[in-house]
Amino acid sequence: MARQAVGSGLQRTDGPAKVRGAARYPQDLPVPEGCLYAVAVRAPVPHARVHGIRPGGALSVPGVRRVLTWRDVRGSNRYGLMEPDQPVLAEDRVLTVSDVVALVVADSERSAREGARRVRLDLTPLPALTDPARACEPSAPVLHPERPAVGPHPNVVAVEEVRQGDPERVLAQASIVIEGDYETGWVEHAFLGPEAGIAAADGSGRLTLWVATQWPEEDLRQAARALGEPLERLRIVQTAIGGAFGGREDVSLQILLLLAARETGAPVRMVWDREESIRGHGKRHPFRMRYRLGADRDGRLLAVEADLLADAGGYASTSAAVLANAVSHATGPYAVAHVLVRGRAVYTNNPVTCAFRGFGVNQVTFAMEQQMNRLAERLGLHPAEVRRRNLPPTAQEPGAVDPQGLRETLDRAVERAEAAALPPSRGPWRYGRGLASAVKNVGYSFGFDDHATARVTLTQDGAVVRTGAAEVGQGVEMVLAQIAAQTLDLPPERVRVEWQDTAAAPEAGSTSASHQTFVTGNAVRLACLRARRTVEDLGGVDRLPPGGITVIETYHAPKTVPLRQRGRTHYAYSWSTCVADVAVDVETGRVRVLRLVEAVDAGRVINPLLFAGQVEGGAVMAQGYAIQERFEVRDGVPLTRSLGACNIPTAVDAAPVIETLAVETPDPNGPYGARGIGEVTMLPVVPAITAAIHAATGAWVDRIPATPERVLAALESSGAPDLGAAPNDRPDGSWIRHQARTAQQEHPGGRRG
Ligand code: MOS
Repeated sequence: MARQAVGSGLQRTDGPAKVRGAARYPQDLPVPEGCLYAVAVRAPVPHARVHGIRPGGALSVPGVRRVLTWRDVRGSNRYGLMEPDQPVLAEDRVLTVSDVVALVVADSERSAREGARRVRLDLTPLPALTDPARACEPSAPVLHPERPAVGPHPNVVAVEEVRQGDPERVLAQASIVIEGDYETGWVEHAFLGPEAGIAAADGSGRLTLWVATQWPEEDLRQAARALGEPLERLRIVQTAIGGAFGGREDVSLQILLLLAARETGAPVRMVWDREESIRGHGKRHPFRMRYRLGADRDGRLLAVEADLLADAGGYASTSAAVLANAVSHATGPYAVAHVLVRGRAVYTNNPVTCAFRGFGVNQVTFAMEQQMNRLAERLGLHPAEVRRRNLPPTAQEPGAVDPQGLRETLDRAVERAEAAALPPSRGPWRYGRGLASAVKNVGYSFGFDDHATARVTLTQDGAVVRTGAAEVGQGVEMVLAQIAAQTLDLPPERVRVEWQDTAAAPEAGSTSASHQTFVTGNAVRLACLRARRTVEDLGGVDRLPPGGITVIETYHAPKTVPLRQRGRTHYAYSWSTCVADVAVDVETGRVRVLRLVEAVDAGRVINPLLFAGQVEGGAVMAQGYAIQERFEVRDGVPLTRSLGACNIPTAVDAAPVIETLAVETPDPNGPYGARGIGEVTMLPVVPAITAAIHAATGAWVDRIPATPERVLAALESSGAPDLGAAPNDRPDGSWIRHQARTAQQEHPGGRRG
């Protein structure tokens, strides 16, 4: 009898300890005997030439043991996920205010902080290069002079271009052309657990790091090179992880802690406070985007041109991959014959930008969906209909965008949303409804060999699954347990998943790119299948030897190619549609999100509770991105320094109604058909909200976050509707009619193109 573990809303295994406060985050670990404390001294300015770093009075502070500088690092002193362009400890220059110039190690936190204040820096501040457009001008200072140029200016981190057909000619002849300029800002990941950890040598001299991270093996590879250590000498034990969202994909304090433990021979602890966390890790990439879209009178897309400029900040991190992902998703999930998309990511002295849930797709989805909604309005079409008319033809090959699944997200979201009408205008409040769709690649694309390994030990009592997939709050531990239980035909409570220790669990790749359910899920399934066959060959579970059997399997995802090559750049996708209902106060510009309906194609839902958690979390995070989160930087220096100042949505702000709908069109390669959904849940929500703001007021907000100031400015420049006349009073509650009417009344000449 087959048990149905896959598809059950089982309570997650890591839940109870977290809810009770028993789970140990890095800050909560017992402090070992003789543990020292490390404090980073950071660059006081975002751009400077460094002439000297001296302990100054730090060493005379009682308790201070060492003041470490780049000379103590001994390896390459360089790290970075895609290219090692970031120094562990600064040498002759600093390029961002997150740069660490020295590390003070002391008996106590207090002494270390006092010592850090006394470290002497001799530096010449240089003007901060903060505008990515300016950074591409010939006269701009070159921030990484030793790096071979990859673009028209040495400050260009990466360039990408996709050209197909003859977009210039087609746009010149298209009967409808929609143009738009869009801008998105920095965003702080705002994970609840700031960076912290402990490093200590074990009995054999191996350096062990207790830390929260997304990709422990890669942290160690970078640390080994930077510190000049053999990889075998390093180990990570992951603790409970207080969120990540891409912000723990880059190294933060890992190498600093290993360095301090090696140099002092003692255990060392480091705990960043919120201000240091915000200063010390990367942000979402700000993008400037210019779009031109050509369509026929039926709303069929003919051509899209897009130009994207992304601010990479001081170091490369994953900017090249984020840019490639943005370029490859720039036309959304639609079929367009003529395309020209160009993108650049550029070094500046602003905060480093890095992975953040959606990985470059959020920005272009906002822009492209605004374009689609403008097109719908121009033609008086239902926003779902204009999308249906542009779905790709039936998927020809496994892993392509499947129009069936996408269409189902559209149909389901619209049907559910339209079951309730919007209220009529009241006082200054106008109500509006907006829709957007999105597609997101699953896993590592562009020729990366995306793979994961799982080791399964099966005994008469049950199974232990070992694989290094970081549980960052999304529920992968439970997902893998359910996949194993299903495949082994065991009750889920007899499966244990162990992922924490790099010395015990094989590598599962990064917990990013919505990869774990798909890739590590497949590895676990393969290992369990083999274990099951072995049991059958033995003649049953009763015949298992006392220690059980252990099998190990590696799953490699289908091959892909870099964006510039012909062929498949992504091997799997997921897609979603969101309908947002908002209220806009036309006197203050304040927006309240009343209801979000989001339909997501998960391929196969492994656990409905976790599915709902991902969709709700993604929707609320997107709401923050759309209307209220702020991360302000002036002259390269973050002005936003506290969690409160980030203004992330709280329970008071979050849409009081979030309806999550599961669509299940199986991916041919996903485990039990599952697709990764960690990121796609966020994508359509932002343009659905801005479309709803437009439906309510007639104003398009093309810069997010759509703060009250920007909403008011957009209202003014839209040749605003007569605010007293309650433009969206619709006797029948129809949102579509309003959009069509707005088109005629407020944009008689189609000013937007
Ligand atoms: Mo995630 S943005 O792919 O680390």
